[in-house]
Amino acid sequence: ATLRNILEKMPKAELHIHIEGSLEPELIFALARRNGVALPYASVDALRSAYAFTDLQSFLDIYYAGASVLLAEEDFYDMTMAYLQRANNDNVRHVELFFDPQTHTSRGVAFATVVNGIHRAVQDAREKWGMTGALIMCFLRHLSEEEAFATLEAALPYRDKLIGVGLDSSERGHPPEKFARVFARCKGLGLHLVAHAGEEGPPAYITTALDDLHAERIDHGVACMQDPALVQRLVRQQTPLTVCPLSNLKLCVFKRLQDHNLLALLEAGIVATVNSDDPAYFGGYINDNFIAAFEALPLTREHARRLARNSFSAAFLAPEDKARRL
Ligand code: ADE
Ligand code: ZN
Repeated sequence: ATLRNILEKMPKAELHIHIEGSLEPELIFALARRNGVALPYASVDALRSAYAFTDLQSFLDIYYAGASVLLAEEDFYDMTMAYLQRANNDNVRHVELFFDPQTHTSRGVAFATVVNGIHRAVQDAREKWGMTGALIMCFLRHLSEEEAFATLEAALPYRDKLIGVGLDSSERGHPPEKFARVFARCKGLGLHLVAHAGEEGPPAYITTALDDLHAERIDHGVACMQDPALVQRLVRQQTPLTVCPLSNLKLCVFKRLQDHNLLALLEAGIVATVNSDDPAYFGGYINDNFIAAFEALPLTREHARRLARNSFSAAFLAPEDKARRL
């Protein structure tokens, strides 16, 4: 088999996908029509041509605008099912997906509408394909601690539908420690903890995500290479990083995919995984990320096997499910 074939066929888990980032331009327009929402773009092509990002914020502005077409539970269901269908085609057997409730509740959409629509699609994917899935609720870090606490309050009746919480949105100027008290409460609820850190922010944010939030996984984390002691710590603790190659390329974290540090992270002994982040915006789903990274870097079949294995070992699967996948 060719390396490409191995990458496509190998069973894998996806651990870093923002479900709102899977909204394709065609679906944005279809939902806008269905819901009578006006879009500031004349066509699918006009929208797609706006996808020329220079940094994280230039992406987030368009990503939040795209999410404005989501109003009814069916919209969240359709978006999630479209992603899960593609994930199944990519041989994803387990997914832990992020969602951003504040992006929706701030527009008057009920928390229940968001979580029920996404959760029902995940359940249907389990019945249809045996794919397991879980939801990670993210707090928007550009908003206040108080707003994060209010969001957690709204989530309490749906505690059983969540496996964990995360932290996303504009990284610079919003260090993890801003949410230390919220995460402490979440930990008390038995939720798993993850946080975006070291995407375009400094390695110090990875350190405070570990020390102040008690994050079990770091999303992105590619900036760790600037701090050798931090790399050693991540290796010693076996803290997984959910790396997103095409995202890093499109948001100019690395100028070229050839400059990406995925191989260096693996060679250092870090539990790195490959993920898609916001596939509709960054030019590819998980297999596209694997193929692009393996084309740009001297990665081998052994690395492919390692990355697939890491994706399951880093997952918040029950020990017996983990043993079955590994
Ligand atoms: N929200 C969606 N995608 C994100 C990313 N790559 N970084 C931070 N917040 C996000
Ligand atoms: Zn992300």
